[in-house]
Order: sequence, then C-alpha cells, then structure tokens
Amino acid sequence: MELDLTAFRPAERSTLQLRVLYEQAGYRKYRMARFEEYALYQQYESFLPDAQVVTFTDLDGKLRAIKPDVTLSIAKNAQPAPGTCKKYYYTEQVCRPSRESHTFTEISQMGLECLGAVGSAEQAEVVRLAAQSLAALGAPGVMELGHMGFVTALLDGIGAAKADRPALLALLQEKNPHGLREAAQKAGLPEEGIAALTELLTLNGPLTQTLAAARACCRYPGQREALDELTALQNDLGEAARGARLDLSLAGDMEYYNGLVFSGYLSGIPRAVLKGGQYDLLIRRFTPGACALGFALYLDELERLEAPLPPVREGETDGQQWLNIALPKGRLGDKAYALLAGAGYGAGDYNDTRKLVIENPDARVRYFLVKPSDVAIYVEHGAADVGIVGKDILAESGADVYELMDTGMGRCRMCVAGPKNFTDDESRALRVATKFVNIARAHYEQTGRDIDIIKLNGSIELAPILGLSDVIVDIVETGTTLKENDLAVLEEFMPISARFIANKASYQFKRAAIDALLGSMKEALEQ
Ligand code: PRP
Repeated sequence: MELDLTAFRPAERSTLQLRVLYEQAGYRKYRMARFEEYALYQQYESFLPDAQVVTFTDLDGKLRAIKPDVTLSIAKNAQPAPGTCKKYYYTEQVCRPSRESHTFTEISQMGLECLGAVGSAEQAEVVRLAAQSLAALGAPGVMELGHMGFVTALLDGIGAAKADRPALLALLQEKNPHGLREAAQKAGLPEEGIAALTELLTLNGPLTQTLAAARACCRYPGQREALDELTALQNDLGEAARGARLDLSLAGDMEYYNGLVFSGYLSGIPRAVLKGGQYDLLIRRFTPGACALGFALYLDELERLEAPLPPVREGETDGQQWLNIALPKGRLGDKAYALLAGAGYGAGDYNDTRKLVIENPDARVRYFLVKPSDVAIYVEHGAADVGIVGKDILAESGADVYELMDTGMGRCRMCVAGPKNFTDDESRALRVATKFVNIARAHYEQTGRDIDIIKLNGSIELAPILGLSDVIVDIVETGTTLKENDLAVLEEFMPISARFIANKASYQFKRAAIDALLGSMKEALEQ
C-alpha cells in the first residue's frame, strides 16, 4: 500500500520526507536522551541560544536539565577520529523560554550535523541538503548565506574592542544603520571603520552580484578568504545555489558560529524556518582540531502553511504583492501617515472613518490602524510587513524585527526623573515606577543598582509625588509634565524617535517593494 502523505500534518509530512533525504545522503539518526546533566549547559552557556534552562534534581541527586538544544550534546558525544566525519540528523523536542508566553515552550526541531574533517565538499553537501530541505517543505523559499569570517575580519581590522562587539553584531542583525553608526561612534571607532561597518548592511542581495560588490569593498585578508570560501561554495553547489542570496551582515552569534552561516525562509511564515552555520569553536572544546557544520529546521512553524488566506487579502487576485503597513493610531500615526502620503503612498483620510483597514490599490499598500504599543507585534508576527513605531515601544517589546530607518519624527528622550533634590543614598532597593519595565530593568542592570519595579500604565509622574516610588523611568518630550509636577530629569539614557521596521520574512519576499517605500520616505524626509 502506498503511504498517502497528504493525510499527515505539515510537520509530520516534512519529517518523513527529510528523513529519507538525510538517510540517502549517508546521515544517521541521532537519538538523544530526554535529559542532560545541567553541568553541560552551565559550562557551555555561551553556546546556547538562551541561558535559561529548566532544571530538576534527578533520583540520583544530580541536577539535570530538560534539553534546550541538541547540537551541544552531539558535539560532546560525536568524537570524530582525525581525518573522518560523523554525520547525524535528529528530530527532537527542545525546551526554551518564550518571551511571549512568559514560560518555557517545547519546540520541534529537525536538524543535521556534520562533524570532524569538514572540508569544502562537506560544506557544499550540508548547504545543498539545507536548500533541498527548504525546497521540500511545500512553499516557495529563499536561502540566505553569510560568513562570520567576513564580519570578524572587518571588526579586527577596524580595531573594534571585544567588549563592544556583541552590541555591534546585534545592530547588524537588526539591519539598523543609524544605531550601528551611533554605537560605533560611541565605541570610538575611526570614521573610515564606521563607514565600512555600515557598508556591510548594503552587501545584501542575489549571490553572484553581492559577491562581486563585496569583493570591490574588501579591506582585509580575512575578508577575502571568506569571499573565496563563498565563491568555492557557489561553484560546488552549482544549480542548488540558484536563487540564493548573500547577506554579509547576517551575523550569527559570534561565539557560536565562526565561518559560513545561513538561514532559510518560506513564503507565508514570518520568521526563518532554517538556521545553520559552521561552529568549529564548540566542537573543538570536545575534539581538538575538528570542524563542524549543521542546521536546524523549526517544524512547528510549518503548520502555518495550511492556514487559509486572511479575509483582508482575498482581494489580491492579480498575483501582485501588496505591502501591509501597521500604523500607530494617534499623534505619531498622524505624522507617520503624512510622511507616507507625502511619499506617494496615501490612502485617503483614515480619521474620516472607523475602518481599521484602509487601502490604496494603485500603490498596492494596505494600512492597519493599530494601537501604538501593538505595531511591533503585528510586524514581528508577519500580520503586517512593515510599520512605524516609537523606539521606546520597540525597545520595550524586544520584537525580533529589522529596524531599517530612523524617521526622526516624534523625538523625545527616555529618562530617569524624580523630585528635584532627590539623591540616591543606595541604602535600599530603588523603587522605580514605569510603563517601560524591560527598559528600566536593562538600564539599572548596566549600572548594577538593585531596584524594585512598580509597573504603571500612565500618569507615571504621580508615583514619586505620592511616595509610591523614588523615581520614574519615562519618556520626556517638552519636559512640561515634569516641570508642572515639580519633578526633574535625573538622567537621560536613550534617545527616542519613530523607527521604520520590517518583518524578517517580508524583507526576503517583498524586498523590492520595501526598498521602494524606504527610498520614497527618505526622499520625502529630505524635502
Ligand atoms: C507621556 C509621558 C509623559 C509625557 C511627557 O505621557 O509618559 O507623561 O508624555 O511629555 P512632555 O515632556 O512633553 O510633558 P502620555 O501623553 O503618553 O500619557 P500617559 O501619562 O498616559 O503615559
């Protein structure tokens, strides 16, 4: 009897298909124990996606953890003999903290690892399997390649201090040119180095053209070596490299990946479904001299592929792509909309109607009128492709989106404020009232000051007046509210303005439309 694969859920179907693909390529199934000793994760914490792990004391008295990751265990156990490779694939549940549900969630991962004497042939094999995996998942996909060697050689060359690198890499990952420039200036990097760093954000497009563009602005030998490796990979991949993109700002976690990195996106899924790269530093902790390369697929995401088109998109009959824009209702929204309309993307006066969706079919844009604090959520989840949001709300949400432009609109500052004569004698935890709990926590963590947070939703200035808190962390625009309530700014620590953000998958699939909108907005802002 033929097995009818259509009877399975997308994740189950993909697991079966990919098993066949990996077995045929000579990879063997790796089965992991349900729990690992916590000491492993503690010792190699910097190689984990998150330091938070669920632990428990087992019956033998040992502290164990519900596995947050599979690669670490494979790297520990593989022990490839010199000159040989161990090749594994796995299908496992990993347990990780979820920012949204405020608890741990189980994630279904299918992955593949090649460990040992990994040369260019093995690199091509793994990347080809990643591309084939993506193609087997049942929706149009895009494979994006990058190389940590290119980024690292640049950071070395321009003299970026080790302590400054995580912040610079995070800004590269956000595709945030204004933040990158600011952080690089703060880090004391020379102007030429800052220009080279921001130039990385432009090295992003079809593989062949971007490789050529990258060659033209190569400054250091390590960068050339990275490009040579990518060129060799492209040649080895042949047909499998067709449609692949190169993004030289695709900076994985530096301590984990040291060479080739890659991601895969599927149309209809708002975040990367495949992530991988070369992680020699980790495998060498267990097997000196070895190399390792692998990738993981996030199977739960595939369920979205069977979701019907939302009603709002049913009018898109001509196969043309529309841009869905999340617009904050209110003062900032009015300014943002004026900018978009001035850039040629107007759709009538939204204040004239109670409609929450307005469209301009000629410009192929659709606006969703949302609460300012929800803009980043719509964009992160792909309900909107792009949006305009205050940096205060964006930073507080921690949304995983690209921050493509600082519009400069709605400028204000994130401040600590309190009674004019307030001095912190540090005799007890500082009581801080705020709407911005995450921003306040991160700020005081940096200074090492112990605080108690009091979360409020508005009229924050009341808290110190009533003795509810010692200070507040809030935005200050004109300073009138503070002044009229006998309060003063004690410390200013984050410039705020409205940012143009994009969903990471939309940036892959609607790149031309997003770039066109971005270009028109920049022009409108310059006028
Ligand atoms: C914001 C902020 C301050 C005020 C600062 O409040 O929380 O209270 O604006 O502006 P200013 O420096 O120009 O006086 P918002 O108007 O958003 O109302 P809220 O009190 O409900 O947060």
